[in-house]
Amino acid sequence: MAQINPSILSADFARLAEEARRVEGTDGAAGADWLHVDVMDNHFVPNLTLGTPVVESLRKATDIPLDCHLMIEEPDRWAPAYVEAGAGSVTFHAEAAAAPVRLAREIRAKGARASMALKPATPIEPYEDLLPELDMLLVMTVEPGFGGQAFLDIMLPKIRRTRQLIDKHGLQLWLQVDGGVSASTIERCAEAGADVFVAGSAVYGADDPAAAVRALRQQAEE
Ligand code: DX5
Ligand code: ZN
Repeated sequence: MAQINPSILSADFARLAEEARRVEGTDGAAGADWLHVDVMDNHFVPNLTLGTPVVESLRKATDIPLDCHLMIEEPDRWAPAYVEAGAGSVTFHAEAAAAPVRLAREIRAKGARASMALKPATPIEPYEDLLPELDMLLVMTVEPGFGGQAFLDIMLPKIRRTRQLIDKHGLQLWLQVDGGVSASTIERCAEAGADVFVAGSAVYGADDPAAAVRALRQQAEE
């Protein structure tokens, strides 16, 4: 089953509750599986977004589980606070984590799904033995920092290799892609083995974001 996670980075930050509701399911029609929340600290990436207070408020404003993507330095120090703020899944970057195994265990122990992200230049192979510690692996398909960038086709082989490693070890972890995922790229990602799709501009740039979510899911499952 393909999961579609709209990224609120492309939503109107002054109306986040309403923007979350625009992708919730309505009777008979499935909505977003998770709401993707991009946390940026202007150090790990050259952009600044939001922190735990916004996550806490979003948690109260929507029933969609929150998928927090931490593009920050020192995730070892900050990630647990995002679980406490209400995130159902917390993704830290491999490049920033001092002790990824300890951090993943801490996130799980606090009750959230633990996930690790790889920037485009970071290979999956050094992390093969860590995969059982994770509930999701995120392969970035743009350089993190901004919404609306073009999908990097050169990441498709990494998605494929990651899928092979997951299957080789018989693991259940999800394989997420984030960056430039749209109607014109989602099929390639799905074919390469991704099963969780983050989409910012492709959902919130559409006239009907809920319909965009449904269309993307259908395309990914074809
Ligand atoms: C980028 C963020 C993405 C971003 C994706 O660094 O991690 O989640 O919102 O936006 P689109 O789908 O527009 O590329
Ligand atoms: Zn993201």
